[in-house]
Amino acid sequence: MNLCVLGAGYVGLTSAVCMAEIGNNVTCVDTVQEKIDNLNKGVMPVFEAGIGEMCRRNMDAGRLAFSTSIEEGVRGSDVVFIAVGTPPAPNGDVDMSQVDAAVDTIVRAINADKIVVNKSTVPVGTQAAMQKRFDAESSYRVEVVSCPEFLQEGTAVKNMMHPDRVVIGSDSGHATEVVSELFKPFGGEQVIVDPQSSELIKYASNAFLATKISYINEIANLCERVGANVEHVAYGMGLDPRIGKQFLRAGIGFGGACFPKDTQGLVSIARQNGCDMKIVQGAIDINTAQQMRCYEKLRDVYPDLRGKTIAVLGLTFKPGTDDVRLAPSIRNVKALLQDGASVRAYDPVGVGNFKREVQGDITYCDSPEQACENADAALLLTEWPQVRSMDLAGAVGAMREKVLVDGRNVFALEDTVLKGVRYYSIGR
Ligand code: UGA
Repeated sequence: MNLCVLGAGYVGLTSAVCMAEIGNNVTCVDTVQEKIDNLNKGVMPVFEAGIGEMCRRNMDAGRLAFSTSIEEGVRGSDVVFIAVGTPPAPNGDVDMSQVDAAVDTIVRAINADKIVVNKSTVPVGTQAAMQKRFDAESSYRVEVVSCPEFLQEGTAVKNMMHPDRVVIGSDSGHATEVVSELFKPFGGEQVIVDPQSSELIKYASNAFLATKISYINEIANLCERVGANVEHVAYGMGLDPRIGKQFLRAGIGFGGACFPKDTQGLVSIARQNGCDMKIVQGAIDINTAQQMRCYEKLRDVYPDLRGKTIAVLGLTFKPGTDDVRLAPSIRNVKALLQDGASVRAYDPVGVGNFKREVQGDITYCDSPEQACENADAALLLTEWPQVRSMDLAGAVGAMREKVLVDGRNVFALEDTVLKGVRYYSIGR
């Protein structure tokens, strides 16, 4: 089929590339000229495993093109995907301006009947509102389908090519059939529901996972008080298939562009509908506090950080991505700088993005070992493989004071190198 994808962020780019990979002709459109110029040169806007190679292969095969012309993209396609950003507004509501702008342009550009598939994470009722607009403003028949995405940064291509489920929310039998056929080659169970349920499945899934993380983090904090080990607790809990092993890793909380935004978004959607989401609000509050656990533990060691040099190992919100949006590193490093400490930071791919968020007395280093040189303490914030496999003995040996705060429980408590190190982790 001929497809157009509006938005070349994580969701849009991955959708465009994977849809081309299974044989569709795809035009991916973004309004940022520099992004499109780079994509046309084969330079990816995000660090994501496997996407560059798959993108080039499909461009070479003539199935994938990038453009800044929404009109061109829309006119040449049967199905238009909306995959633009829905960031949080300052009051916690969902900022829908990019989605609204996409609808405006489709209305202006449309030249035949089309199906519009919404991949952006949007408040419940958006499909209905969009359908109403197209019905009123377009002389062609437009059928709007909600089809939320469930990709994780770092494994986005894998998630899209082999989904657990494909959720399709539509009132139209014809549009459901077309979208269902489009996604069939990827496999996964297709969940065909009404649009409101589809839109809510996305928020409810993310908020549930985020709550699971906050739950284990709250248990971790209790473990520290009672002398238990959260890893043992999580292991024992996770063997119950009703609980499951995943997303029970205690640490310094969740970050990124999805969980913080979608938990807040769900609370705000609920509030607008007269519901008070106490559990999700609790998960948000726990996470806000948990993100600062490393800094707090360090402050217990050094009540005065003036003149101290602190190594920060890992800046991105998780490994496998260059994304630092709402990463715990931002708040921790800002607090260190504010207290008068100098920072020696290491991250394999996140430095460029981090520099745009935080400025100050920060030296960027090429390896975790180098970051630890002459440091008074090290904070481990992201469990990158390079950090996991670092020469711990060498790094600790080169530190001025041997204080290591491990926010991701990377090192085993019984590691002999940690003898003689003041080592603090989460819930152990
Ligand atoms: C998340 C969801 O996992 C995807 O299913 C969803 O499609 C996506 O949001 C989205 O809405 O677009 P993502 O934000 O890429 O994906 O990252 P996750 O792997 O879910 O991790 C989120 C955060 O939770 C990270 O900061 C990670 O360090 C933290 N986490 C995860 C924990 O602290 N403990 C865990 O056990 C798991």
